[in-house]
Amino acid sequence: MTEIKGLILSGGSGTRLRPITHTYAKQLVPVANKPVLFYGIEALVEAGVTDIGIIIAPHTGDEVREAVGDGSVFGAKVTYIEQAEPAGLAHAVLTAEDFLDGSSFVMYLGDNLLRDGVPGLVERFRAETPDAMILLTRVEDPTAFGVAELDEGRVVHLVEKPENPPSDMALVGVYLFSPAIFDAAKRLEPSERGELEITEAIQTLIDDGHEVRSEVVTGWWKDTGQLADMLEANRLVLDDIVTRLDGTIEDSRVEGRVIVEEGAVLRNSVVRGPAVIGRGAVVDGAYIGPYTSIGDGVRVLNSEIEHSILLSGSSVENLGARIEASLLGREVRVTRSDSLPKTMRLLVGDRAEIEIV
Ligand code: G1P
Repeated sequence: MTEIKGLILSGGSGTRLRPITHTYAKQLVPVANKPVLFYGIEALVEAGVTDIGIIIAPHTGDEVREAVGDGSVFGAKVTYIEQAEPAGLAHAVLTAEDFLDGSSFVMYLGDNLLRDGVPGLVERFRAETPDAMILLTRVEDPTAFGVAELDEGRVVHLVEKPENPPSDMALVGVYLFSPAIFDAAKRLEPSERGELEITEAIQTLIDDGHEVRSEVVTGWWKDTGQLADMLEANRLVLDDIVTRLDGTIEDSRVEGRVIVEEGAVLRNSVVRGPAVIGRGAVVDGAYIGPYTSIGDGVRVLNSEIEHSILLSGSSVENLGARIEASLLGREVRVTRSDSLPKTMRLLVGDRAEIEIV
């Protein structure tokens, strides 16, 4: 069987998820308490792709290395490849040329989530051996993606973030390539956003008469690059969880599908799933509503939270109001105090977003 390597992109600057990404790789933001990146690694391993290169950025590379290690916990062998600047997806491919060493490969964007993974796609690529295979899905706003124009199912034209999209079929962040992609990528010029676009490299393959096949995604797909998408991905993943109550539950009501991890404590609270409560979290006098992921060591006291993601070590206390559709970073503190005057006191980092209603 031809060897297929994996290439996961976990660099980039994550500008659309600031301020979380000021200090954190966007691919490590958790969905249902598991970093988005881990879903991608698991998807590749499930498809039989275990020799995986991960592209990292200089400022967030170390935490990605620390989170993933040598890949053995996933059943993979991971090699890290540093991309000095976020110069585009095709640039990332060129950066990985030594690692890929003439093999065909699956490229997986580390902030993408696919419900059904990639096993069918990889199998088809092995059987049909085209020069590229792309994954497509219908989207509401094609201007935010690479877009494919099809003629009776055949890919005839690809364009990156078009102002006037030729169709609503967007390129999903999973691609399969033969080594022919290198020659195409090397001939690219930077796009308007200053990047070497993989979309243009695939168009070059088409222009050169190479075989480019496509498949339409079954199940859902999410690019988690923005807050709304992140929350939506969290909702979709939580929708599939199975109840597991390993923590301590005292005088509380747990409704629907809920995971309470070991070491977590629920006291005098109501948790209405789907929701997950991380290790060592304390939920006391609180309501945790549907589609909420409470990270490890988080404290929620006398407060209500719904449809939100709270990263590890944060605390929400005595709020007297409900938090909704929110993403709190690590070790964030939100409290209400009784002292007068009744004002708001904020210590908020750069580019934070606060909406008071
Ligand atoms: C990238 C690709 C785009 C693709 C998208 C999928 O966009 O350039 O063609 O549709 O990933 O997530 P970016 O995330 O760099 O804006």
